[in-house]
Amino acid sequence: MAQPLVEALQKKLTENCYPFHMPGHKQGRLLPLFLEPFQGLFAFDLTEIPGLDNLYRPGGPIKEAQEKAALTFGAAATFFLVNGATAGLQAAILASFCPGEKVALPRNCHRSILGALVLAGVEPVYVTGPYLPELALPLPPGEKEFTSLLNHYKKEISGVIAVDPDYFGISPPLRKVGEKQIVDAAHGAHFPFHPSFPPHPGEKGALFWVHGAHKTLPVPTPAALLHLGDSRKKEDALRALALVQTSSPSYLLMAALDGARALLEEKGEKLYSELAERVHELKEFIRRLGLRCLEEEDLPAGYRLDWSRLYLITADAGICGTRAAAWLAEKGFQAEIANAGGVLFIFSPADSREDMGRLAAVLEEMMFSLEREKRSLPAPSLPPVPSLSRPLLSLREVWFGPRRRLSLREATGKICASFVVPYPPGVPVLCPGEEITPQILDYLEYLQKEGIPVAGVEDNTIEVTE
Ligand SMILES: Cc1ncc(COP(=O)(O)O)c(C=O)c1O
Repeated sequence: MAQPLVEALQKKLTENCYPFHMPGHKQGRLLPLFLEPFQGLFAFDLTEIPGLDNLYRPGGPIKEAQEKAALTFGAAATFFLVNGATAGLQAAILASFCPGEKVALPRNCHRSILGALVLAGVEPVYVTGPYLPELALPLPPGEKEFTSLLNHYKKEISGVIAVDPDYFGISPPLRKVGEKQIVDAAHGAHFPFHPSFPPHPGEKGALFWVHGAHKTLPVPTPAALLHLGDSRKKEDALRALALVQTSSPSYLLMAALDGARALLEEKGEKLYSELAERVHELKEFIRRLGLRCLEEEDLPAGYRLDWSRLYLITADAGICGTRAAAWLAEKGFQAEIANAGGVLFIFSPADSREDMGRLAAVLEEMMFSLEREKRSLPAPSLPPVPSLSRPLLSLREVWFGPRRRLSLREATGKICASFVVPYPPGVPVLCPGEEITPQILDYLEYLQKEGIPVAGVEDNTIEVTE
């Protein structure tokens, strides 16, 4: 399977040309001691020398590799990202909107999107998705929530930023709801490699979508991909990428993206079919243990679930998720995240039958070992969230303005300077620029009394604008 950038680097190595150029390790000739075993890898850590093309003016192997990636990922054009999905989201937003424009996005979106809005001077209009109270799980907003917001705001909103799939692998029902539709698909780079995964954003009308390739594909952190649904946006995207990314892109990361694409294009369907079998067996075993996993049937109609993520609902069995994750880590099994309700595991074809078998065995051991700690753990019943206030200042004004901390009570009527997020449900009750109303303060005090952690409130204080 052709891998143009990998091949260009391999050819370069055969030329045996001495590197009187950057980087200073000179293809691995001098390395910190702990890196010496990886000398061979550093031979590929080259820079823009003849024959190796230029990420921001691609005309050779990078161009060819990106074109191959675009075909594989179903995009009109694809760009390699060397600064994570964060850079792709920043570039997509900078290439799509002008300062002062309003864009609809999930209230609990990743901070990389909010950072991009600060950089671009774009205003968020937040959309909240459905909520699964029994699992205390907020779902990413879909077509219904976005459409109703767009209808409410009429022409005031210039575009949409959706999250598909979210951290838990939940993919909302979406179609093209606006001309400028950006999708944070950081967690879904593997979707195009097997038909059993939910459709990817390119199939749902996205103008730009971003894959945090390093999250699920066999590439190093933070290799990622920016995809375009319309090749007419190529120049804008490239200009924005040159603004937000390093001027010294890592050839190791770019070649890994090229190589992983070639590998999965050839073997992805087989690898993911085999993984699907292993995950299915693990889920069956978990059921026999009397535990439950999040299933697509638990989600509202139209929502899909990435089967390669497994959210083990430990609370059902009376075990707190964070306790279970800590116990598993002690036994040598690190999960992705945990919350009160359960533990999230991420699988990839790199996880062998043996690895998954060992996980099954340790889960069985956990059920016995934590027997004495089991107690009834109902999902916390949260009072209805008070009405959210509209922003009085923009994200950008808050970012550049002075701030101070006040006690919760002193903060009544002030403007919030940070995100205030109770877990669960993990959706901000206050965003920067919003007025801190007495109703929201009452709610925060109630959560504190109930022992529900609230990010953004420390020692009973909250950040406000001066
Ligand atoms: C939903 C989501 N979007 C974007 C990002 C940013 O990705 P990266 O770390 O590759 O910059 C993350 C990172 O965890 C994420 O979870």
